Amino acid sequence: MTRTPASLVRAEPGAPYEITFDGRSVRALPGQTVAAALWAAGILSWRTTRVNGAARGVFCGIGACYDCLATVNGRPNQRACLVPARPGDAITTQEGTGHDDLAV
Ligand code: FES
Repeated sequence: MTRTPASLVRAEPGAPYEITFDGRSVRALPGQTVAAALWAAGILSWRTTRVNGAARGVFCGIGACYDCLATVNGRPNQRACLVPARPGDAITTQEGTGHDDLAV
């Protein structure tokens, strides 16, 4: 028997729905944050740093460190560990500040 966090607490989440990550279909469950849905799909990184382009994902998981910034439905700098996933959300990898389109 496979033990999962949901099975350990006997959670009975509602029906899964789809979000996308860089165009790839990802399954999300009601109540999951964007970060939780990405992690469950095996995706650990969705941002690069602005200076060195280093990969980032969740670090603190509680909204304090900002490592998990992602672009959600075209809005950059959303903390994936706090933003609830919603059906049809389009998550995209954030490069640097997420405002490269404003560069001169
Ligand atoms: S992981 Fe630290 S703010 Fe989201």
